[in-house]
Amino acid sequence: MFKGWVIDKIDGRQTVALQNIDEARLPEGEARVRIDWSTINYKDALALTGKGPVVRQFPMVPGVDLAGHVESSSDPAFMPGDAVFVNGWGLGETHWGGLAERASLKAAWLLKPPAALSLKDIMALGTAGYTAMLAILALENHGLKPGTDTILVTGASGGVGGFSIAFLAALGYKIIASTGRMQEADYLKALGASDVIDRAELSSPGKPLGKERWAGAIDSVGGHTLANVCASTRYDGAVAACGLAQGMDFPATVAPFILRGVTLYGIDSVYKPNDIRRTAWERIAQLLDRTQLERITHERPLADALTVAEELFAGKVRGRVLIKIDA
Ligand SMILES: NC(=O)c1ccc[n+]([C@@H]2O[C@H](COP(=O)([O-])OP(=O)(O)OC[C@H]3O[C@@H](n4cnc5c(N)ncnc54)[C@H](OP(=O)(O)O)[C@@H]3O)[C@@H](O)[C@H]2O)c1
Repeated sequence: MFKGWVIDKIDGRQTVALQNIDEARLPEGEARVRIDWSTINYKDALALTGKGPVVRQFPMVPGVDLAGHVESSSDPAFMPGDAVFVNGWGLGETHWGGLAERASLKAAWLLKPPAALSLKDIMALGTAGYTAMLAILALENHGLKPGTDTILVTGASGGVGGFSIAFLAALGYKIIASTGRMQEADYLKALGASDVIDRAELSSPGKPLGKERWAGAIDSVGGHTLANVCASTRYDGAVAACGLAQGMDFPATVAPFILRGVTLYGIDSVYKPNDIRRTAWERIAQLLDRTQLERITHERPLADALTVAEELFAGKVRGRVLIKIDA
């Protein structure tokens, strides 16, 4: 038996509980992993609270991220005792995920941590840190340059936002942070933002084109915010869209794209091929500042997962929550 959160649907109603689960119920997979760390991402909070249609099959163990040690593997690439981690690949959506003491996984999903990062570091960063780096790679490939270019980061007090700021600051960009929590301005400046703006400036319907304010942006908010972010991106600039905390809609016009040559990049972390994942994690390992990692992250036990999910939607979670699994 092992302990894990289970989301189920009974008579059309979603249930969620921390349960003792028989190992025989684990899904098929080449590798059995004892989980040491997991996290609560926005998507996990949607799944746990039932606020969003994240879970595709019931019963489901939530948790899009996990890190731990291999107990057994039929794939020779992994030996018992190997430290491994997984981000995405449908964990917590179509395959049992990380908010539990055990997982059974496809070997193709497992990565070994870069030398400079522990499993705990990797889960503190989690999908949020890895997605922030994917967004930065898209802006770099577009040609944005530190020193000269200003980048806007929306949803700044969240996980993707916090790591985007920390990494962009380490690279030498000037950063504008947009937040609904102006009381967190000191925290955002400590991460590396030079300016902090109220998200209300961006969250209502705006004009097709605004003043050119930034060369690029990392947006985890969507909705009117993303439309306004594009409208105020400078000529030939780029926006990396990775989230929907305000909404799934995109009520924009084509004006920024056809009159200013702005490029909108879509960022997906879930099904990214492993070579790009490794590149992103190596860049993170090079750039990571441990003081910033500690500033962004809070640790909670597995039993708190549902409470953390509720706190996240109440705007009470700053940065990232790392979940310690005591297997
Ligand atoms: N594409 C991918 O592969 C990928 C990967 C990871 C995450 N995501 C998505 O990215 C988003 C952020 O994820 P996360 O883990 O960083 O979540 P998070 O920690 O909850 O951060 C989201 C932030 O968005 C802001 N926000 C919340 N509600 C808002 C609203 N109604 N209007 C405007 N801003 C709002 C808040 O920041 P302030 O308080 O500072 O305003 C909040 O901290 C989510 O939508 C998530 O699903 C996508």
